[in-house]
Amino acid sequence: MRKGPAQHAACFAFSMNPELQVDFHTEANTNIAFHFRVYFDKCVVMNSRKGGSWGEEVKSSVMPFKDGQPFELGILVLSKEYQVSSPSQSFLYPNNQKKGGWATTPGLAPLNHSCLPWQVPYTKSVSLPVGSFVKIKGTPAMSFSMNPELQVDFHTEANTNIAFHFRVYFDKCVVMNSRKGGSWGEEVKSTVMPFKDGQPFELGILVLSKEYQVIVNGSPCYTFPHRFDPKSVKMIQVWRDVSLTSVIIA
Ligand code: GAL
Repeated sequence: MRKGPAQHAACFAFSMNPELQVDFHTEANTNIAFHFRVYFDKCVVMNSRKGGSWGEEVKSSVMPFKDGQPFELGILVLSKEYQVSSPSQSFLYPNNQKKGGWATTPGLAPLNHSCLPWQVPYTKSVSLPVGSFVKIKGTPAMSFSMNPELQVDFHTEANTNIAFHFRVYFDKCVVMNSRKGGSWGEEVKSTVMPFKDGQPFELGILVLSKEYQVIVNGSPCYTFPHRFDPKSVKMIQVWRDVSLTSVIIA
């Protein structure tokens, strides 16, 4: 499990009833040692599930999450309980359910893998000379009917400049551009749409000598000629409505 708190922000206004769910699954995939579900601005529900049946629900109307505000959520595995903490509040859930539920068997503790998606916006300092490859794995965070987007920006040292801007309007089009001194350049638009509703994707960006080549699920789909020296790129940002699994720079 990844150590330390993860930072996330809800994707929509609370008036649209967004939710957050964190589940700690055991090796038997139907079992959930700890289920933490936030109905933003309403309540928090905690539970466990064994053999397909939910246990006794623990509900709290304490609501430390704020509309439009990023939050930090930490889950500490203590000997008798999970302790969930946000900056202002803690929730407790026993990890050995008393009424014939969970035993504190080490095998039930989901400590070896991460259930948490990567933080979005994801920002990383990079060097991307010709020959570099960026590989991004993720899944659109919502159905295409809700118009999710994905954006990848290659920033130069001067933070206002973007050497490569790649924006996906899922199921519609892809827009590529660069930005210099606060002004966007000439837009390159494509209606090639290899992304699939609800499906994970693998996005590769290859830095060639004359252009960036974008590869989606193994197929070359888009190119964007260099407008900046690729060596001037210092930072990559991946953001908008996606749940990220990994970002690898090679
Ligand atoms: C604009 C949009 C920017 C950027 C730009 C690219 O319409 O607001 O975020 O995507 O197009 O040309």
